[in-house]
Amino acid sequence: MSEPARLQELLQEAAALLRQGGVVAFPTETVYGLGADARMTSAVEAVFAAKGRPSDNPLIVHIAKDEQLDELVQQVVPTARKLMDAFWPGPLTIVLPVREGVLSPRVTAGLDTVGIRMPDHPIALALIEESGCPVAAPSANRSGRPSPTLASHVLEDLADSIDGIVDGGATGVGVESTVVQVQEDGGITVLRPGGVTLEQLSLAAGAAVQLDPALLPEAGGVSDQAPRAPGMKYTHYAPKGELRIVTGESQAEVSVWISRSLREAAARGERTGVLAFDEHIGSYEADCVLSLGSLSDLSTAAHRLYALLRRMDEERIGYILSEACPENGLGAAIMNRLRKAAGQTVIRLG
Ligand code: TXA
Ligand code: MG
Repeated sequence: MSEPARLQELLQEAAALLRQGGVVAFPTETVYGLGADARMTSAVEAVFAAKGRPSDNPLIVHIAKDEQLDELVQQVVPTARKLMDAFWPGPLTIVLPVREGVLSPRVTAGLDTVGIRMPDHPIALALIEESGCPVAAPSANRSGRPSPTLASHVLEDLADSIDGIVDGGATGVGVESTVVQVQEDGGITVLRPGGVTLEQLSLAAGAAVQLDPALLPEAGGVSDQAPRAPGMKYTHYAPKGELRIVTGESQAEVSVWISRSLREAAARGERTGVLAFDEHIGSYEADCVLSLGSLSDLSTAAHRLYALLRRMDEERIGYILSEACPENGLGAAIMNRLRKAAGQTVIRLG
């Protein structure tokens, strides 16, 4: 059978599984998702169970066509419409007032809103369309683990607890979608930074864009204010080893500090690892030296980040240091995930 015919057959099988209440992993442009029919409580519960996900953390609903939106939400304000026109299909999730009685209440975890996104991946779009379901899909990792950017990551975490997987190779963006909510005054609040940057949002919508204050680096995870995307309050993406981020005004100082700390850890008998940008990676010695790509193009760091964190586990690294990057553009999402992976431990020099 030809490749396209084989893929077509796989997609039909996967879509049938979804219609029957199964849970199926599939690639999107950001990370792999674990999909279920968002209208079917038993299927949605199977997703929570497979992931070991806390039930107060709502799921994103994925659609393939604009026409699916009306059934799911009460209204779309003009700014939200502008964002859809600019970024769908793409890595943007928009939180909207949910229409009652269609989705399983488990999807929204009791909120009166639902996060909707149209993914920009041919397999995801074909699967959603073929199934005829609105597809609830969190990232297809065990809760707390780095999100999966390869089918093998999904199998590592969930092989025994899912009904199927469509392997589409490596995902592109590598970090999850940006989650936004349009406020009553027309401003946009970013509840989770992701594949669409704050700068892009502001340009497309012509509106003020602010990061949920609970996510600001200064809040450092110790803010009294709970993040408005419930998922942002959980430790996440963490490798098994102890990860710390090192920053400072002077890169020379950062490099010297990292090199010395790696040497000291090695002398204590620890297996050491470092995540570094190509501009400085040559100065480090460790059991596992992994590149985040160049600082001049952060899409590489985003694309690789989760696979690198998993790699540290495979190499049984106990002591891990990471460089930081500026928090504009994709850097906001990268640093948000790195800080969560590090349990908010940032060492600031100088
Ligand atoms: O890129 C992505 O968004 C991936 C792919 C598979 O589409 N999905 C994903 O889903 O990252 P998940 O469940 O891992 O993360 C969803 C995030 C969580 O932080 C959750 O709290 C937030 O979105 N969220 C979902 N619905 C929400 C709502 N109604 N209000 C506020 N936050 C919401
Ligand atoms: Mg997730």
